[in-house]
Amino acid sequence: MVRAIYPGSFDPVTLGHLDIIRRAAKNCDELIIGVLNNKTKSPLFSVDERVELLQSVTEDIPNVQIRSFGGLLVDFAKEQNANIIIRGLRAITDFEYELQMAQTNRILSNGVDTMFLVASNEYSYLSSTMVKEIASFGGSIDKFAPKVVCDRMYEKYRSYMRS
Ligand code: PNS
Repeated sequence: MVRAIYPGSFDPVTLGHLDIIRRAAKNCDELIIGVLNNKTKSPLFSVDERVELLQSVTEDIPNVQIRSFGGLLVDFAKEQNANIIIRGLRAITDFEYELQMAQTNRILSNGVDTMFLVASNEYSYLSSTMVKEIASFGGSIDKFAPKVVCDRMYEKYRSYMRS
């Protein structure tokens, strides 16, 4: 049985993430999306909001579960009995960081391997950071994130403007 983890910050989940999730879910029995609860960063969405948004956009994929984690990814993988970590690769700029993480995680975990899915062409430029920047300046993010995420982001930035 292949039980894989797709970890990330997902602040917020984009169409690029969703594409990776759908393609990964087809290739494993169970896919756990691990949402990083990093107390040293200040994300736009709380970890509970990110989990809720991911649940909403993956509700039609039966073998996907969403969980949050803090601490080391390899410890979370062990706790979840997952044998594979999934990461998306967009461009060569992702490669060095991803290679470093994959190699470190394999050594730390004594063998949990990382498998990479190459981003689909239409999402190869897309990042959560870019999506947040566009929305913060009042631009449309409809082409970059699922509708429920766009609505929540527009609402968030509207409430910042009011305060
Ligand atoms: O979406 P992101 O921010 O690129 O995801 C990065 C993530 C969550 C995969 C990475 O920061 C992570 O695994 N953090 C947990 C802490 C950890 O295990 N660090 C060592 C990795 S070598």
